[in-house]
Amino acid sequence: MTDAPAPALSPLDEQAMTAYIEQSIANIESAHDLAELKTVKAAVVGDSSPLALANRTIGSLDKADKPTAGKLLGQARGRINAALTAREELLTAEAEEQMLNSEKLDVTTVEPRYTPGSRHPLDLLMDEVEDFFTSMGWTIAQGPEVEHEWYDFDALNFDADHPARQMQDTFYIDGESVGAPAGEPSNLVMRTHTSPVQAHVMVEQEPPLYIACPGKVFRSDELDATHTPVFHQVEGLAVDKGLTMAHLKGVLDHFARAMFGPDATTRLRPSFFPFTEPSAEMDLWFPQKKGGPGWIEWGGCGMVNPNVLRACGIDPDVYTGFAFGMGLERTLMLRHAIADMHDIVEGDQRFSQQFGLTGKGL
Ligand code: PHE
Repeated sequence: MTDAPAPALSPLDEQAMTAYIEQSIANIESAHDLAELKTVKAAVVGDSSPLALANRTIGSLDKADKPTAGKLLGQARGRINAALTAREELLTAEAEEQMLNSEKLDVTTVEPRYTPGSRHPLDLLMDEVEDFFTSMGWTIAQGPEVEHEWYDFDALNFDADHPARQMQDTFYIDGESVGAPAGEPSNLVMRTHTSPVQAHVMVEQEPPLYIACPGKVFRSDELDATHTPVFHQVEGLAVDKGLTMAHLKGVLDHFARAMFGPDATTRLRPSFFPFTEPSAEMDLWFPQKKGGPGWIEWGGCGMVNPNVLRACGIDPDVYTGFAFGMGLERTLMLRHAIADMHDIVEGDQRFSQQFGLTGKGL
């Protein structure tokens, strides 16, 4: 660093000049960075430095002394400037190196900017279900989610006053549907099950029919650990000559094994649905059941009610059919021990990611 203001420097005092040079060089050498060096430079060779002031006195010197003074001043400026340049080069190189170190980027540690997303496990399950049915030669059918009441209820043999039509179960849509097959205007509903797809297929196509329909259904339930107002079912329908409940049972057992492994099987308990006769609740033998292996209710099924075949233009004296339907959320929850429906509906990526790309994870 610079010392206190130097006394006026005489350009003819060789000793003083030498001392000035040495002091200046010492100050230059002790500058630690470029900012300090700039201050030292101003002090030792700047406009108001002793050296500059001494230079200005040359004009008033005796003519004979001028060459000596000029030479001494020139030498001083030369040595000091050389020291400044050398120090500046050194400090610049140091500063650059420091900058390179502090701003160093290790490109091998850079995180990918986007984490890969994942498909929802229900979506994966629907693919798996579709693969299962198409591998048996069945066709995947689709129907509308906003449905004529005729397809959702009337065609399926629901009485006009059947409790399932009541507001607590069904979302009715404002306005009337026009062009339902019965020819009369009827209400529009959010479909409450996938069974109306059966009716669509039977109205539009000739047997033999082997179709499966995974899709969204709607009921005015509150969201809780086991219910959601929007959920998914898969519907199966077969209509052909000579089909019996034995065929139904065979398909259900095969489906159970595909979903739950080789030990899975099903049993049927008598039940009632307006659109099947006889009807059954279908239970699944579930080895991983909490508290020990046991039966768990998985869905509904039965032989297609002759009234339904007739309503859809199929002769029940020639054809018989069977149908079944089960909830896909329930299937997913059973298979993967998911305790809370919220996990399925909330859409948190961390939940979906556990299932991997195939859906068989967890
Ligand atoms: N649709 C019925 C339900 O939602 C299930 C079912 C489908 C029952 C086909 C019998 C035949 O509960």
